[in-house]
Amino acid sequence: MKFYYGAVVFAHVVSAVISVGPLFLLLPLIRRLRMAKAEAEDIYLAFIRVIIRLVMHAGHVLVISGILLILSGPWPWHTSWIVLTLGVMLLSGVFLATGFSAVLKKFHEPGNNKDAIIKKLRRTAWIYISLMLVMLWLMVQKPVVW
Ligand code: HEM
Repeated sequence: MKFYYGAVVFAHVVSAVISVGPLFLLLPLIRRLRMAKAEAEDIYLAFIRVIIRLVMHAGHVLVISGILLILSGPWPWHTSWIVLTLGVMLLSGVFLATGFSAVLKKFHEPGNNKDAIIKKLRRTAWIYISLMLVMLWLMVQKPVVW
C-alpha cells in the first residue's frame, strides 16, 4: 500500500509538471504569432494546439491521480486545501475548454481581427498559468483554512 501510494504521488507530481511547464512556452509562441507572416502562422498555431492538448491530457492524469490519492490516502476530500483546489480546478477546466479552443477556431475565420484574438489568447494563457500556480501552492503548502 505504501509503494502504491508513493507511486501515485509520483505520477501526480509528474503530471503536475507537464500540466504547468509547457504553458510557459505558450507566451513566446503567442508573441511570435503576432509578428508572423501568413505562411508561418499555421506552424505557430500547430505548436500552440499541441501544447494545449498536452496540458489537457496531463491535466486529466492529474485529476485521476488526485482522486486516487484521496481514495487511498490519509487526506479526506473535505480537507480545506483539497476543496479549494477542486474549486479552482473547476474554474480552470472551464477556461481551457472554452477559452483556448474557441479563440483558436476563430483565427482563420474571415473578417476577424487577429490582434484582438492574439490579445485574448495571451490573457487566457496568463489566467490559466495563474490558476495552475494557485493550485500548485495549495497542494505544496496545504494551508489549513478551516
Ligand atoms: C482533483 C484535484 C486534486 C486532488 C484531489 C489532489 C490531491 C492531492 C493529495 C491528496 C496530495 C497529497 C499527497 C501526500 O502528500 O500524501 C497531493 C499532492 C500534490 N499535488 Fe495534488 N491534487 C489535485 C490537483 C492538483 C493540481 C491541479 C496540482 C498542480 C497544479 C497538484 C499538485 C500536487 C503536488 C505538487 C503535490 C505534492 C505536494 C507535496 O506532497 O508536498 N495537485 N494532491
